[in-house]
Amino acid sequence: LFGLGAIGRGIGRLAAQRQEIEIAGAVDIAPELAGRPLAEVLEMEAPGLVENDAAAALARAKPALVLHATGSYLPDVLPQLLTCARAGANVVSTCEELSYPYKRHVELAKQLDAEARAGNMTMLGTGVNPGFVMDTLAVVLSGVCQEVEHVRLLRVVDVATRREQLQRKVGAGLTIEEFKARAAGGRFGHVGLQESCWLLAEALGWRLDSLEERLEPEPGADGLARGQRQTAVGKIGERTVIEALVLMAAGAEARDDIELRGRPPVHMTIEGGVAGDTATAAVVVNAARRVLDARPGLITMLDLPPITGVGSR
Ligand SMILES: NC(=O)c1ccc[n+]([C@@H]2O[C@H](COP(=O)([O-])OP(=O)(O)OC[C@H]3O[C@@H](n4cnc5c(N)ncnc54)[C@H](OP(=O)(O)O)[C@@H]3O)[C@@H](O)[C@H]2O)c1
Repeated sequence: LFGLGAIGRGIGRLAAQRQEIEIAGAVDIAPELAGRPLAEVLEMEAPGLVENDAAAALARAKPALVLHATGSYLPDVLPQLLTCARAGANVVSTCEELSYPYKRHVELAKQLDAEARAGNMTMLGTGVNPGFVMDTLAVVLSGVCQEVEHVRLLRVVDVATRREQLQRKVGAGLTIEEFKARAAGGRFGHVGLQESCWLLAEALGWRLDSLEERLEPEPGADGLARGQRQTAVGKIGERTVIEALVLMAAGAEARDDIELRGRPPVHMTIEGGVAGDTATAAVVVNAARRVLDARPGLITMLDLPPITGVGSR
């Protein structure tokens, strides 16, 4: 387990419950976590202490696979991923930019792929979104279409029901001006919307000429932002082929909605939306088994057979 924030702990708890998984070690640099018994951090039976030196932990434990959940931005987590590659450990990571790194980080993607192959390991970025709802699920649905003309993706999350960290991340409670200033500064809002669109476009054989993303505040009744409205529009020439919206706001009516205009048309709504944190742990752990059987190198969800959950006993 590499990274034991809220998501890494959720992944760790699920991994500890899966019979086919033996936890070989845990790493986190946060001073409040490093050195503590893993069982205490996960609040369940688990072996060993949380270590703060990933290279040393990997050399000692020699895990087949690393479940990685430390950050969203590829340049930040690159050294961690390279440490795993050099230790020959496969990786499933929640890093959003890793889910489809070939556009935003062309050179880093090449480097990771080369190092992964050299280490004879496989590296995958995934999670609930990006990783599943606005990309893999839409790709799977397209399997019943003879032809797809247009895809509309919508994910609405009611952040009032979610962790405070997420509420802060989407700007809930900021003034509209504060929100706009944060958005202009970068590293704000949902990460991975473009990655979802690119992955979907690759699956459908679309070479997008443009993919424009906008991040705006979602105003509440009190005039403050109650969250964010993030859109992406993908075009081939002048033709819009992908329209995606992530609305994360306090009090929003949560749902996931995928609409494929094509032959035949397909429209799917998930009432209430897929619960983000629980689903992310599931996607990561469920993908782990597939990654062990995948070819070495940097891969995406498009390279894996469908991931599945586990039936209760
Ligand atoms: N793809 C998806 O669908 C999806 C879904 C959910 C979350 N995510 C992403 O997954 C990541 C983890 O989420 P989270 O909410 O658990 O984040 P978090 O609360 O920030 O936890 C990350 C943990 O990793 C630690 N860490 C950072 N750099 C490290 C390093 N070099 N070595 C070891 N540990 C390190 C952090 O320590 P410090 O606190 O000391 O930095 C922290 O304890 C986030 O980037 C999040 O956006 C993706």
